[in-house]
Amino acid sequence: MFDIKEIRSQFPILNQQVNGKPLIYLDNAASSQKPISVLETWQKYYEEINANVHRGIHTLSQLATEEMENSRKKVQHFINAKHDYEVIFTRGTTEGINLIAYSLGNSNFIKKDDEIIISYLEHHSNIVPWQMLCERTGAKLKVIPIDENGILQLDFLDQNLSEKTKIVSVNQVSNALGIINPIEEIIAKVRTQSSALMVIDGAQSVPHFEIDVQKIDCDFFVFSGHKMYAPMGVGILYGKEEILEKMQPFHGGGEMIATCSFEKTTYAGLPFKLEAGTPNVGGNIALGAAVDFMKKVGIQNIRNHENALLEYAQKKLLEIDGLKIYGEKAKRAGVVSFNLEGVGIASDVGMILDKLGIAVRTGHHCTQPIMDFFNVAGTVRASFAVFNTLEEIDALAEGVKKAQRMLM
Ligand code: ALA
Repeated sequence: MFDIKEIRSQFPILNQQVNGKPLIYLDNAASSQKPISVLETWQKYYEEINANVHRGIHTLSQLATEEMENSRKKVQHFINAKHDYEVIFTRGTTEGINLIAYSLGNSNFIKKDDEIIISYLEHHSNIVPWQMLCERTGAKLKVIPIDENGILQLDFLDQNLSEKTKIVSVNQVSNALGIINPIEEIIAKVRTQSSALMVIDGAQSVPHFEIDVQKIDCDFFVFSGHKMYAPMGVGILYGKEEILEKMQPFHGGGEMIATCSFEKTTYAGLPFKLEAGTPNVGGNIALGAAVDFMKKVGIQNIRNHENALLEYAQKKLLEIDGLKIYGEKAKRAGVVSFNLEGVGIASDVGMILDKLGIAVRTGHHCTQPIMDFFNVAGTVRASFAVFNTLEEIDALAEGVKKAQRMLM
């Protein structure tokens, strides 16, 4: 049984007033709030265990190692990776993509005139690392275009995939518009028309969908913990074993060596080869608690609830004259991104909503190319999580109407 009251009671932060109004938190695509179970797991680590992992013989160190490796296994099952050592702890999606781009560049995998394909709908973190790789190697960056609904034009792949294509990297859900991209279709095209590696940015899909990396058959899948109810500063890079094995380390340092001398260093096996330095042990363990939380609520229940919120939000907001939703006709998850006609600056709307206790994000959402495409400086973005309610959507719609009255 999905009990929204019970779920909300697990998020202490919701129990407060902001600017004299009950907090309505609709900025989950930027970072979701954290349930008590995650907060307690994190706190318990620091209160009762706090020790470094993998290198101590003492009890606390062994306990920390056990808990962190247990969390790695939870993530493995959560995304259905074949092996736990295919799950690499990172600081988040951005680090995951940079790790891939840097390590593949180091492995001489990409050469001058090779090609990397991304899409118009990418976050800057799935654009800039590839641009940097192109600058280092002389490879070319190509971009799958979108139509006026924000839908990817996949014919582009038929015309551009070739043996020159080395990497295709797209998100499963757009952070700015919430559009769900047809990654199965994209991967099928990539597999039949090239031997490129397929990278999926799952930052905005993992909080909402069941993920099965073996079924998707991607080579890499990256995501952040903090958008799926875990603390900030933790994330995951999943990669297929045979590809991770061939990759050179991203960072050098402790934990990632097998032997080290001044003459030569040999590297540890997976996953440690790609995890130099002391990890965020408490955060990584709390990520496991976030997985437990999502599984307990039921990922399909989360999806159904958020779909109901999205549908209702779309209906209520479109009742407002002059309100445009970007990607309105596309299949979406968890996000409505909009502007009011005649109100030039999205942040003005955001500030008025904030005075009403409603937290939304405004601006370009780290996706300037999308904003350029729609010829706007930014949008107002409301993004949902499992704890949001239909009443909060009503308040959002009323708040937007109030902003419209004040700003026009
Ligand atoms: N990538 C985050 C967002 O979309 C920060 O808001």
